[in-house]
Amino acid sequence: MICIGIESSAHTIGIGIVDGRKVLANERSTYQPKYTGIHPRKAADFLSKEFEPVVRRALEASGVSLREIELVAFTMGPGFGACLKIGLVGAKTMAQELNKPIIGVNHALAHIEIVRSLCRCRNPLVVYVSGGNTQIIVLEDRNYRVMGETLDIGLGNLIDSVGRSMRLKHAHGSVVEKMAREGGYIPLPYSVKGMDLVFTGLLTEAQNSLKTHRKEDVCYSLQETAFSMLVEATERALALTKSKELILCGGVAQNSRLQEMVREMAKPHGCRLFVTEGQFNADNGAMIALTGNLMYEAGVRMKLGECGVVQKMRVDEVEVMW
Ligand code: FE2
Repeated sequence: MICIGIESSAHTIGIGIVDGRKVLANERSTYQPKYTGIHPRKAADFLSKEFEPVVRRALEASGVSLREIELVAFTMGPGFGACLKIGLVGAKTMAQELNKPIIGVNHALAHIEIVRSLCRCRNPLVVYVSGGNTQIIVLEDRNYRVMGETLDIGLGNLIDSVGRSMRLKHAHGSVVEKMAREGGYIPLPYSVKGMDLVFTGLLTEAQNSLKTHRKEDVCYSLQETAFSMLVEATERALALTKSKELILCGGVAQNSRLQEMVREMAKPHGCRLFVTEGQFNADNGAMIALTGNLMYEAGVRMKLGECGVVQKMRVDEVEVMW
């Protein structure tokens, strides 16, 4: 089934086209404010402007015409309301024009399913790390269960906030990662509560440390502390689930130091780490299209008039029927 997936939960408009599990196109455009965080309305304006050109690029790259699309999938939540609605309106218009079925997809679920599908994992433990989310997730019967998560901000948000304090430009994560390679360790607050994590104390102290320490040292210590917290919580989950497969997904999964630390932790447990390439870890339309196909094939149906967005939608709310 040829499905077009529309992702617009935050600062990226992503359009993906898949045929079954095969990705035919995965195009995107990302709003990049210079020194500030993401303002939802400004991001929504950007997504609205970029929607049509990105759709056109995806159709060209896939070699598929609009008339050949058989299913329209969009991100239902979680995300910024104003941004989600851009994707919703685009998806509804497309489904109505083409007279094709529509399906709303959970964003976190899509991050997991694309890696599970591309890496052919059966029942992995999942570490989902992005700007707004940090969760340790396992599939139990027909639902994903969140075993541990951040109690305040996401890991990506933590790194971005410190990056902005250093007046770094966009793509803070990769710049912080690069600077960390030249840094040494300074103690920063470490806070793990069972399998949950708290990052705001670490954020405040890292920002304060910038007044007295080299930026490289702050970057190194920030990464080592935050990633160690995540690895500790993940190991606790791994000891309980005894999973032999571990997925690291979401935007922050692209950090090679994090990958290294998670892989080292998992090895003595006989557990293999799966990470897919960057384009499928960043917010993207292919993951929405692929998950839309999985849902449709499993019998999920949605009525056009009832489709909406759910800003705080959680991954454990979705029944996994496939
Ligand atoms: Fe995401």
